[in-house]
Amino acid sequence: MFRRREEYAEPYRIKVVEMIRPIDRPTREKLIRDAGYNVFALPSDSVYIDLLTDSGTAAMSDYQWSGMMMGDESYAGSKNYFHFRDAVKDVMGYEHVVPTHQGRGAEHILMNVFVKPGDRVLGNMHFDTTEGHILLKGAEPVNCLADAGYKVGVEADFKGNFDLELLETEIRKDRDKVPFVLVTVTCNNNGGQPVSMQNIRGVRSVADKYGLPVFFDAARFAENAYFIKQLEPGYEDKPIGDIAREMFSYGDGCTMSAKKDALVNIGGFVAFRNIEHYRQAIQWQIPFEGFVTYGGLAGRDLEAMARGLHEVLNEDYLEDRIGQVRYLGGLLIKSGIPIVRPTGGHGIYINAKALLPHIPRNEFPAQALTVELFIEGGIRGVELGGCAFGHKHPQTGEDLWPELELVRLAIPRRVYTDRHMAMVARALRAVKERASSIKGLKLTYEAPVLRHFTARFERVE
Ligand code: F0G
Repeated sequence: MFRRREEYAEPYRIKVVEMIRPIDRPTREKLIRDAGYNVFALPSDSVYIDLLTDSGTAAMSDYQWSGMMMGDESYAGSKNYFHFRDAVKDVMGYEHVVPTHQGRGAEHILMNVFVKPGDRVLGNMHFDTTEGHILLKGAEPVNCLADAGYKVGVEADFKGNFDLELLETEIRKDRDKVPFVLVTVTCNNNGGQPVSMQNIRGVRSVADKYGLPVFFDAARFAENAYFIKQLEPGYEDKPIGDIAREMFSYGDGCTMSAKKDALVNIGGFVAFRNIEHYRQAIQWQIPFEGFVTYGGLAGRDLEAMARGLHEVLNEDYLEDRIGQVRYLGGLLIKSGIPIVRPTGGHGIYINAKALLPHIPRNEFPAQALTVELFIEGGIRGVELGGCAFGHKHPQTGEDLWPELELVRLAIPRRVYTDRHMAMVARALRAVKERASSIKGLKLTYEAPVLRHFTARFERVE
């Protein structure tokens, strides 16, 4: 079980700092107006506490930085590549690794090797870029998340789990159209919720029944292993490294955005147990990412990843990291701010529909909340609601809204202290106090795909 936050302190010393300073409120109001009320268009030096993403935003350690100085930038056969390959083998147990510029580069390769038009790729809940790559191949992404995972207010462990019966039903519809099963750990799209070992074992046995490979989206694998250690009987005394290796033992390989749990600012990879899969993958790697021993990265980046993959297994680090997310969640719950529960691994997801119930869906309550949080405290979160996931019916033009209307506050690794978290909670309390006077937003520009990145809005007066 989790230790209380007061029982320990950060397990690191801060050696390098970047000065930050909140700008004044009238300037923030002007900046967000000029940005078309979209936080993606803000200059980041106008942001005081940036919780847009936990991806590529980690503070690297002295050990990683010293490795960066030993970068061997050779086109072929860099020593850092071999360190990286050995780290993936040690941590994940996969022999054959293909470095890529980031996670989506790895997804691009995996989908090209395995997915054909008309296929159906089954997963617990695919991340957006994964879904995008599946669609680009003319295939269908299918989520088989257990029901509890969709229930925002329901406290349950392992809300990233598959519904194993649903998985089997989906396979049976046409087994030959299923190229593999993808397990995303932790499950980003419903709150960074973990998947249990028992469920992963269940996925493996269903897949074996039908002769299907299993892959992991391993972006946050160490955070998932930490939840298993805290919550799943039989794992309380196991080292995180052993738990991670057991997870991966049920798979045939993984994609990874190293910008999360490899604690680096850029990088990714796809790894395989089977050399034939590897041989096919490098046919896509060489033209799109780069030669097999660098894959779009510099030698120094490979070294930082190699070191980060080991470092992330440190239990003191994981306790502090997940503990900080829980700490912020606790402050918000105490203030009556509706959030997805329990808190997951990498961030807090605020239920904007419940906080701003007077704003209708077509006036984007979650987007309005991101705007107010920036105005109130210079804090940047991200909308995961009607703007990111809503779309128009292709025939009728009717607006179709996703079930959830959330704002994600993703916490970068080793970057902010608990006092920053307390500032975030204070700003949200202030927003909550004036919630009823907050106005909705009207879309004035939207791109045909992934509209949330570049959308522009006006205030509804
Ligand atoms: N898979 C998961 C589960 C992710 O969360 C992400 C990225 C990717 C794949 C793609 O990796 O960005 O390195 O190309 N998530 C980021 C986020 C962008 O903010 O959650 P990438």
